[in-house]
Parts: sequence; structure tokens; C-alpha cells
Amino acid sequence: MAQDDTRVRDQLIEAFLLADGPVSGEDLSHRLGLSRTAVWKHIKALEQLGFAFEASPRVGYRAVRIPDELMAPLVRPHLPPDCLLGSPILWAESRASTNETALELAEKGLPHGAVVTAGEQTGGRGRRDRAWASPRGGMWFTVFVRNPCALRHAPDLTLLAALAVCRALRAEGVPVEIKWPNDILLGGRKTGGILAQIRAEGEMVDHAVIGIGLNANFALEELPEEIRDRATTILHATGRPIDRPKTLAHILAELDRLYRDLRDGRGFQAVHAEWTALCSTIGHEVEVAVGDERVRGMARSVEPDGSLVIETSPGVTRTVVSGEVLFSDREHI
Ligand code: BTN
Repeated sequence: MAQDDTRVRDQLIEAFLLADGPVSGEDLSHRLGLSRTAVWKHIKALEQLGFAFEASPRVGYRAVRIPDELMAPLVRPHLPPDCLLGSPILWAESRASTNETALELAEKGLPHGAVVTAGEQTGGRGRRDRAWASPRGGMWFTVFVRNPCALRHAPDLTLLAALAVCRALRAEGVPVEIKWPNDILLGGRKTGGILAQIRAEGEMVDHAVIGIGLNANFALEELPEEIRDRATTILHATGRPIDRPKTLAHILAELDRLYRDLRDGRGFQAVHAEWTALCSTIGHEVEVAVGDERVRGMARSVEPDGSLVIETSPGVTRTVVSGEVLFSDREHI
């Protein structure tokens, strides 16, 4: 879809959201600077995306169904006015990968705070370049930040993103936890993940794309069969859908606060206690992949710099800066 069409689409949605009654075709055509036929075509395009309108002859259109897609006009009303993340929000019905789009746009001057979202991803990627199933109904988005922190604090970007997701979902009554370093678990099963990709310039991170995927409002059967025993969706686990645009706004608001502090030198360390309390890994037997090596033992703590301390044998500990927990006695993983 051309950029102009996206702008018109978003303006049209906004007009319907703000109206407290039907909006006439003439009014819309005047506001958008388009012919009535062009307005009608845009309304038909919105219907294809799940919107429904009631048309009354000589009165106008009224939106009677608004889908909960991660579109700018649906997310923005929930954002605090001073939030630096969420402008612009670039939604598309389908993308290969929101991270990929954000990285491409980064080269073309994408501004700090832009968020790339998608109704579905056809080539979603997870850590270790694994495929990430991204059907409709999930939350697939990438937050773009410029000059977020020094390179040595780059791991904070994902750790803080996990915290922002937890805060937002917990506020909605969804009791998620964090599997070190950045998986989101619900009832011990994976319901979300974070994939950060950075470009560094010397000692500084020049820009970063923080991709967040949440298995939100779709049935478990939509996930590939081979991961259904260790993954879940919010809808499946809680029996109710979440308001996706509102949840995205809440995540962005939390992330904005955390990333501002990170820029000011108060990163993970400042939220270490809260993060640790949400981390389900601590106190459990784990096997962690560190490159090609496997480290087995009892996860004892997460350090203020974000590394995981594993007791590999009585009294002997190993500190792992980055890695992936392959197995824990507590999870279905
Ligand atoms: C993981 O746990 O392996 C990380 C998964 C990250 C998935 C998200 S969905 C939005 C963004 N686009 C992608 O292709 N990946 C991330």
C-alpha cells in the first residue's frame, strides 16, 4: 500500500473514531481532500480489513465494527502525550518480518520511536534465526530507537523490553513471567519473545530494532504442532482476548520510561529487583546454551548487569552473560 493510502486510511479511521454520529461522504471528502468516489473506495478497503460501516442514505457512514489491529489511530489514543515511542506507527496487514522492515527503513531515516506493526508475519524470525510463527490475532511489532545506550549496555535493551511487556500484561490481569533473558512465559509456557538487533558505531549503539512477538488472541492450534506442548497463547491460557491496541500503547509507555532512564545511565540495574521478582528461572535446575557449550545447574540469581549465575556443582558457580535456557525443571520447555 502506498504511503499516501496509509495516511488517508489512518485519517479516515480517526474521523470515524472521533465522530459521535454518522459522518457524511461529503464531509469526509472535504476533510481528506478527495473525491466522494475515492472516499468510498477507501471505505471498501477498510471493510476488507475487518471494519464494518452502516451507511444511511443522505446521512452518511457510521463505523459499527472496529478491529483491534495495531494501527496508529487505534493505538495513539491510549498513549501518554509525552511518549517518545509510537510515532509513527506503521501498520501493514502482512509483512515478512517487522524487524526486517524496520532495519530497511532505518537506512532511509526512520525516526527514533517509530513502531512497525503487522497483522501477520509470513517470515517472522526468532532468536538463533529460528522461524517465529506469527498468525493473525497476535501482536507482532518492532520498536525503533536511535542512540539508546553504550554498546556495553546493549543487553539492557531486551531485558527492559521484557519488563515493559510484563508490566503492561500484568496490568491487564495476565500473570506473565520472564524466562531469562527475554522470553515471556504464561503458566510456564512461552507466550512471547523479544529479538533485538543492533547497529553499533564504536562504543555506542547507533540504532536498535526491538522486535516483540506476543501470542495474544488466537487459538493454540494456530501454532505449529511441534511447539504446542511448550507454547501458549493469551487467549488459550486465560480464556479471554486482550485489547491489542491498548496493550501495545501500554507496553510503549513503559518502554519509553525505561529507555529514557537507560539513556540517562539508569538501565537494568535500576529495575533489577523488580525484574528478578518476575523471573521464573531463578531457583530452578536449568541447562543453558552458551554458544555451542551447555551449562547445567541450579539458576541462583540474575546479577545487576543482567547475567545469570548458575551453580554447576555445590559451591561452584558460573556466570553466563548471554545464552538461552533450553531446559528448566519448572517449565514445559
Ligand atoms: C524469540 O523468542 O526467539 C524471539 C521472537 C521475536 C519475534 C518478534 S515478532 C516481531 C519481530 N519480528 C520478527 O521477525 N521477530 C520479532
